[in-house]
Amino acid sequence: MRVGIWFLKLAAFYFLVGVAMGLTMEIIGDHRLSGAHAHINLIGWASMALFGIIYVLFPKAGETKLAQLHFWLYNISFPLFMLGLSFILLGNESLLILLMVFPNFLVLAVVFFVLNVFLQVKVEHVNSFLNKN
Ligand code: HEM
Ligand code: HEM
Repeated sequence: MRVGIWFLKLAAFYFLVGVAMGLTMEIIGDHRLSGAHAHINLIGWASMALFGIIYVLFPKAGETKLAQLHFWLYNISFPLFMLGLSFILLGNESLLILLMVFPNFLVLAVVFFVLNVFLQVKVEHVNSFLNKN
């Protein structure tokens, strides 16, 4: 459950970063970071908000070791992936190593999430606030 709350807070944070980036790209007329902006909004805001909602809706899923692994691996690899991507999009290859390493960890975090959903997301595990019957 706590993991769910933190996913929701980080999702909101990355939404702000994503739209601020979109607005800045528009204002300065430089769209080179479009790919990073798109993924900050989609992997950051949209996906993390969904993780948060799922973990709050199914509290048992949010209490597992897999949820912890998912949370930490995702939130360490995602910003480093975006940093590496932004540098490449701006034509600087000095952080290429980040782009070679961290998308793999991000996908591994998603594997932990999927396993967790298959093992823990069940009708009888739905948040008791919603399960009135
Ligand atoms: C204030 C809000 C936003 C502004 C000002 C903005 C602005 C921009 C700009 C200037 C581009 C580059 C377009 C181009 O060069 O073709 C772009 C691309 C993109 N944006 Fe946003 N954006 C905003 C919010 C969002 C949100 C909330 C999402 C997703 C949840 C999003 C998803 C994308 C995607 C996927 C692309 C890439 C499109 C492509 O490559 O075809 N944007 N945005
Ligand atoms: C590990 C995770 C991911 C990796 C490595 C990845 C990688 C990529 C790559 C290589 C492209 C092509 C960029 C280009 O040709 O310029 C792309 C485009 C795109 N991806 Fe992802 N992606 C990931 C996750 C996601 C997720 C979770 C979403 C949506 C929820 C998403 C939505 C998109 C969209 C909308 C585009 C087209 C917009 C653009 O060209 O910037 N991606 N992604």
